[in-house]
Amino acid sequence: MAIPRNLIDEINEKTDIVALVSPYVNLVKKGKNFMGQCPFHDDKSPSFSVSPEKHLAKCMACGEGGTPIVFYQKIKNVSFEQAALALAEPLGIKLNVVKKGEQDQVEHAIMKEANIFYEFYLHNSESGKIAIEYLTKRGLSIDEIKHFQIGLAPKEKDALFNILKNKSFNPDQMESAGLVKRREDGTYYDLMSYRITFPVHDPLGRVVGFSGRTLDNDQVKYLNTPETVIFHKGETLYHLSSVLREIRMSKKVILHEGFFDVIASYRAGIPYGVATMGTALTKKQAELIKQHTNHVIVAYDGDSAGQNATMKAIPLLQEAGLRVDILRLRDGLDPDDFVKKNGKEAYQALISESIDPVQFGYDYYKNGLDLTNANDINAFKKNVISLLRGKDNSIREIYLKKLSNDLGVSYDAVRPKPEIERIPRNDSKPQQAKRELPLKYFHAEKQLVIAMMKDPSASTRIDQALGTQLVADMDLFRLRTTLMHGYYKSYSTFDLETFKTMLDEDQITVLNDKVTSQIEWGGQFIFDEDAITRLLDVMSTITDTKAYKALLVEIKQEKEAYTQTTMVEKQKALKNKISKRQVNT
Ligand code: UTP
Ligand code: MN
Repeated sequence: MAIPRNLIDEINEKTDIVALVSPYVNLVKKGKNFMGQCPFHDDKSPSFSVSPEKHLAKCMACGEGGTPIVFYQKIKNVSFEQAALALAEPLGIKLNVVKKGEQDQVEHAIMKEANIFYEFYLHNSESGKIAIEYLTKRGLSIDEIKHFQIGLAPKEKDALFNILKNKSFNPDQMESAGLVKRREDGTYYDLMSYRITFPVHDPLGRVVGFSGRTLDNDQVKYLNTPETVIFHKGETLYHLSSVLREIRMSKKVILHEGFFDVIASYRAGIPYGVATMGTALTKKQAELIKQHTNHVIVAYDGDSAGQNATMKAIPLLQEAGLRVDILRLRDGLDPDDFVKKNGKEAYQALISESIDPVQFGYDYYKNGLDLTNANDINAFKKNVISLLRGKDNSIREIYLKKLSNDLGVSYDAVRPKPEIERIPRNDSKPQQAKRELPLKYFHAEKQLVIAMMKDPSASTRIDQALGTQLVADMDLFRLRTTLMHGYYKSYSTFDLETFKTMLDEDQITVLNDKVTSQIEWGGQFIFDEDAITRLLDVMSTITDTKAYKALLVEIKQEKEAYTQTTMVEKQKALKNKISKRQVNT
């Protein structure tokens, strides 16, 4: 069953949380909140906090509880859906819960019809002629247009709506498939009008979504159908399902940014190209590639956005176990531009000359620097050294020599001193916990720490909810502690460089590896209240895992030692720094 997010929110917001919790906890008012003894663990001090304002009922010590629905779910030991249904009823909220299977089938059927219609319309209408002319100008043959099942959404705002209605789909179904939208007055209109349509298929080859490119230079170049029960952009790769055989045969995949790049590769005799759809590569997509091959060539745009995205994609792909090479596109060209400009032989040659990630990273960091400027030299050195961290000795030596050459200094001058190298940790026990704990906890904790940095106003809520109990990774716990009890004590906004001054070398490594290199750190990721609640809900179940229970005692000792000693030192150090700054100014 899938309950729409907005109804979940409505239930959580409208439920009287104090009345809900009262039968189970003796609540006493403390400021805006209520406190009582936690009903989920043997609580000596009142640790259970109820916030009517935030609609949260949660234990500060054991972390159990959460939104009203989650509280009810846990206290009654029922499923999330059962809890939502139980709380919705007295509020008069109707949950038209559709079974997931049925919803799937309807959406697949709608997408299939829409695809047939768009394709037919492209090849059999007057505006279709203009669209085909456009595609032909962009280098596509009719065969290619057909291979990619490219279509055209008519100008009329209800063309698809009427077609689907004639096929007996109802407006609700069309709307949840994402292809039509509802106006205030209750009438409906097509999401896409006068756009070239690119169907997106799931791994089984079924159409799950569309992207539509404007033909009249609308502000939105590509309009995508929204996430639905069957369409998850972050788990889908454009064109993958059509070329599984080619991928198997060539033993590699080319990863592009855009549809036209995939098509250009295809036209140039490289049929094994796939693309993300306007969003940063996800771990799921990297794993999807790994299911079919061990080798990926990243062919993102040659502009700075494309190059930045490449740097972010590399570790994700490598973590999935893939061999990664990078197509070196210059002058801001994308593969489509390149093929048009230089032809297919040049493109094929370029692919065979793809470079490895170290080579790419080295050039990436060097690009645009003035190597006579001390700041640039420092930044470049630091980046190259971090790029080489953990790499094979020969590779390190080659690049350090290159670095000394580029800087015009001796090899000795660039060789990192041993203390800059990563010091192996000897806290082997929590490391072991890392292996046994389900990965989702590390992801959730990481995302929450990122959210705390990106949104200082959310930091207190997150820190309080996690407390010293909901911890999966000691490194992230240390970062969070420094952030909350050191950094945010003195600053109200987050600045990465200032924060780094409070960290030791080890913590900076952790920050680089687990925080700033993550896709969530990049611009597009939004952590709203909902996302944070969801992540906190994940973390709240960590105490139920075996691995956590077994290590609780050891983790606790380490945490106590860390919070007591280190924080005092950190704060002292910070005070010194601040007073020094004040003296200087
Ligand atoms: P680009 O802006 O690089 O477009 O976006 P492109 O592929 O070069 O397109 P043409 O050549 O101008 O037609 C790359 C990809 O990002 C997504 C699309 O998937 C696109 O292929 N995108 C881009 C969107 O989803 N929405 C947009 O408005 C723009
Ligand atoms: Mn392009």
